[in-house]
Amino acid sequence: MLSSLFVLLAASITYALALNTTIGRHCASHLTPEKLAAYETHFAKHKVEKSVLLESDQDFALEVEIPVYFHVVSANSTVEGGNIPDWQIAAQMAILNLDYHATGLTFKLANITRTVKAGWFNAVGPDGTTQTAMKKQLRQGGIDALNVYTVGFTSGSGVGQLGFSAFPIEYADDPIDDGVVILFSTVPGGAKTNYNFGRTLTHEAGHWAGLYHPFQGGCDGVGDEVDDTPAEAVASFGCPIGRDTCPSPGVDPIHNYMDYSYDICMNQFTPGQISRMHSQLRTYRNITI
Ligand SMILES: *[C@@H]1O[C@H](CO)[C@@H](O)[C@H](O)[C@H]1NC(C)=O
Ligand SMILES: *[C@@H]1O[C@H](CO)[C@@H](O)[C@H](O)[C@H]1NC(C)=O
Ligand SMILES: *[C@@H]1O[C@H](CO)[C@@H](O)[C@H](O)[C@H]1NC(C)=O
Ligand SMILES: [Zn+2]
Repeated sequence: MLSSLFVLLAASITYALALNTTIGRHCASHLTPEKLAAYETHFAKHKVEKSVLLESDQDFALEVEIPVYFHVVSANSTVEGGNIPDWQIAAQMAILNLDYHATGLTFKLANITRTVKAGWFNAVGPDGTTQTAMKKQLRQGGIDALNVYTVGFTSGSGVGQLGFSAFPIEYADDPIDDGVVILFSTVPGGAKTNYNFGRTLTHEAGHWAGLYHPFQGGCDGVGDEVDDTPAEAVASFGCPIGRDTCPSPGVDPIHNYMDYSYDICMNQFTPGQISRMHSQLRTYRNITI
């Protein structure tokens, strides 16, 4: 397995050098400014600070383990049909844990389910009832569990997406829709050129833990609600080192996991993002970190 990872790393580096500006990462976890403002108002009011835990004699941990339920939804039983093998799921977990190593979050595979259902593989997307039907049948674990669904996004609202995720605040009203849906070929060794090192899950798990895109709101306003991710006018594409699209200080955070760069170009969560993830998880997922 380890040697497969190295082969894949070499392959991804080659891909990253072949820039193509007509295609890009697409993630459907966008909020309108109004919705984001409503979410942030709620968060400001109900935020569980570490000091609140301490005052109420509750413990918090420096490291927490998040159970991961991995649901493979495929058109048929072949890898091209979405039935990714266990070794790719293991490699995906390894990348996820590598990328989150500085966050205090570790992810532990709790279960794998496999469902052959072309209707779901093709048509699950961010909108509509198909994804709800899928999640209703497959979701496992509680408020602190990360459910990951791999699908094909070949028709409907999912076409062209690499993934999408619910936000922590949404769990209370809609626990079934909680979780992350990703394109199956984005897992390590998958067929999605430039996006097959497993960082789509890293990115979507960031939304699941309460992060927004650094290009949220463009150059103006509060952006992604994190102070140490410089504002960015538009999403990144490829690996445009040194790009600077806003007059405010700092070059664009193109290496950030929450931007849209190629997988191999991403390597960072900032301290501000880590702090926001912790407070979002404390407030909305009962995870006391
Ligand atoms: C870039 O990707 C698009 C869509 O896949 C493709 O049609 C086009 O030929 C590619 N361009 C280059 C220069 O590779
Ligand atoms: C499996 O599904 C994929 C995706 O729909 C399709 O391209 C492939 O031809 C199918 N293979 C078989 C053996 O049915
Ligand atoms: C894993 O999922 C299967 C299918 O839903 C279920 O039968 C089984 O009990 C689960 N195992 C664990 C350890 O949760
Ligand atoms: Zn996103």
